[in-house]
Amino acid sequence: MSASTSAQTGRVASNFVPGPILLLGAPGVGKGTQAKELVKLWGIPQISTGDLLRGNVAKGTKLGQAAKEIMGRGELVSDSLVNEMVAARLEEPDTAQGYILDGFPRTLGQANWLDGRLTAQVKSLPAIAVSIQVNYNQLLRRITGRRNCPTCQAIYNIYLNPPTRKEGFCDADGVALVQRADDTEKVVEERLRAYGAMTAPVVEYYRAQERFAEVDGDGAITAIAAGIVAAVERLRKQA
Ligand code: AP5
Repeated sequence: MSASTSAQTGRVASNFVPGPILLLGAPGVGKGTQAKELVKLWGIPQISTGDLLRGNVAKGTKLGQAAKEIMGRGELVSDSLVNEMVAARLEEPDTAQGYILDGFPRTLGQANWLDGRLTAQVKSLPAIAVSIQVNYNQLLRRITGRRNCPTCQAIYNIYLNPPTRKEGFCDADGVALVQRADDTEKVVEERLRAYGAMTAPVVEYYRAQERFAEVDGDGAITAIAAGIVAAVERLRKQA
């Protein structure tokens, strides 16, 4: 079965070991949406640093207390806090066949930390970085229209990808959808500024290496996933 066929049909290619996959791209580009598609296909976990941080904020942990205001301003949480959080998550056994890092690394410091960690693990496959691109107007529409299910974390968009059963409620569990606190236009501006200053250089860092792919994030969700799967399978064969 070809890579794209597997994405279109939703069937998992049983012999394929994805290894560490990094989804890069601006706020609202579709990293979380694509990560969820890849989880269905590959059966490896999505590790979203944004979701992990929001989970800590909701529980009021020490990390959550430190991160809350920074996230509310649209700035980046410090490398040391985020790296420590990711390190703990990567220790969990479900990461053995690979994982999808969604929103990490976001600074060159985080990328260097991850490289060091993967190099030290002799059994780990090298990371493959996939950068998703859409234009600025599309980003704004995606972010301001986004609604999330607080129970199952499903992602919707009131303009582009609304629930099909009942407006404002999750298709899967019927729970009322919510808007993220940092999805306001003012905070989005700062998130995009932080992306340009801190994360765009990370994309260039991976582009300069062999295991990098860029995909167009404008189109049907399953078609974009098929493109990512094809790129990852091709790059893994070269590794
Ligand atoms: P985080 O949660 O990672 O936010 P982000 O990077 O800004 O990314 P988003 O979650 O906004 O967007 P996405 O690309 O996942 O898009 P989605 O799939 O939802 O981080 C939040 C904050 O946490 C940061 O600002 C920072 O403070 C902190 N943080 C997190 N990681 C950090 C790190 N590593 N270091 C330091 N600080 C960190 O899609 C968006 C919308 O578009 C949805 O409505 C969706 O339905 C729609 N959509 C998606 N794809 C399509 C499509 N193909 N067609 C139509 N609609 C689509």
